Amino acid sequence: MRIPFNDLATPHASIVEEVVAEVRAVAANSRFIGGPAVEAFEQEYAAFCNTAHAVGVANGTDAIELTLRALGVGGGDEVLVPANTFIATASAVAAAGATPIFVDVDPESLLITPETLEAGLTERTRAVMPVHLFGHMVPPADVLAFAERHNLVVVEDSAQAHGADAPNDGSGEKVRAGSYGVAGTFSFYPGKNLGAWGDGGAVVTDDAELASRIRSLANHGRTEGTDHYEHRYIGRNSRLDALQAMVLRRKLADLPEANVQRRRVASLYSEALAAHGIPLVSPLSGVDSAWHLLVVRVPSRETVRGLLNEAGIGTGVHYPVPCHRQLAYLTDRTPDLPVAERAATEILSLPFFPHMRDDEIAYVADNLAKAIATV
Ligand SMILES: Cc1ncc(COP(=O)(O)O)c(C=O)c1O
Repeated sequence: MRIPFNDLATPHASIVEEVVAEVRAVAANSRFIGGPAVEAFEQEYAAFCNTAHAVGVANGTDAIELTLRALGVGGGDEVLVPANTFIATASAVAAAGATPIFVDVDPESLLITPETLEAGLTERTRAVMPVHLFGHMVPPADVLAFAERHNLVVVEDSAQAHGADAPNDGSGEKVRAGSYGVAGTFSFYPGKNLGAWGDGGAVVTDDAELASRIRSLANHGRTEGTDHYEHRYIGRNSRLDALQAMVLRRKLADLPEANVQRRRVASLYSEALAAHGIPLVSPLSGVDSAWHLLVVRVPSRETVRGLLNEAGIGTGVHYPVPCHRQLAYLTDRTPDLPVAERAATEILSLPFFPHMRDDEIAYVADNLAKAIATV
């Protein structure tokens, strides 16, 4: 059996004709930038995230940078970020002119906690960025009280968590990823739970003024209702184009069911791995993860990967080097963050996509157990 790490072709096969018909319509009306497709997607995505506004931008990295700039977070400011995230969380902070301060994570969930955040705090800290890694959402209770106590803004990096929900404090209600911070940022990189046919991103927020400032920064500093060549802010070009918006609209309609299927696959994996005593990185209790990635922890990872590869099983590592140990971010003050450092040597992402079959899941789990027994 051959099982790829991901399969993006199958879910697109059933929608390609519909999307191509819409591409023809855009070619005919020539609304390539902005226009009805982008506006409709923004409204639908805001509704999906339970927020008042969504602003489409060029990618998930710009979504973070433009949000921080619109909030006035920049030179001299520090932003708390987990050490175990994709590098873009940190590079976007740096691009906004601020300094990313890397903090460690909980050994089980691999997510930030109030305690790990505390260690990175200085008098220059202005913002905190929970990253909903692997789709496992950081619950609001783990961030909001801390942020309020220290007067920090919260921007959720939700690039991996489209449609995740977490319990709200005490009330029994759930809140959606991206909706509890002052803003939530998303990537629509093709491999994400909601992926474009190229790059794309969005910021969601309830704050109308913030949304409008981000939209302006992403559109050469223009403000709505003014002349095309009037520029109120020093902006740049980071817009979501109409062709990507069309693809995203069509795929958004299928996202709730795709996330249900991801949870089904995760649950089958969880049972199969538990039978072999293999630890799965799981969401915190009460969290409905978006299950972007399915991550286990294994000894002698590179050998295990090699054995799985020989059995026709594709794998990934997210991420092999924690951000604070990347050359670009090493300083005299680089801290030891032992939990993130150890996790980086053990984590392994298994094949994972919504339409995975039961026999494929069993094949991966059995071969993983065999590989671990060999090392
Ligand atoms: C956690 C995280 N943050 C930010 C990004 C950046 O998104 P993009 O690649 O769309 O710029 C990604 C994805 O690539 C990500 O996984």
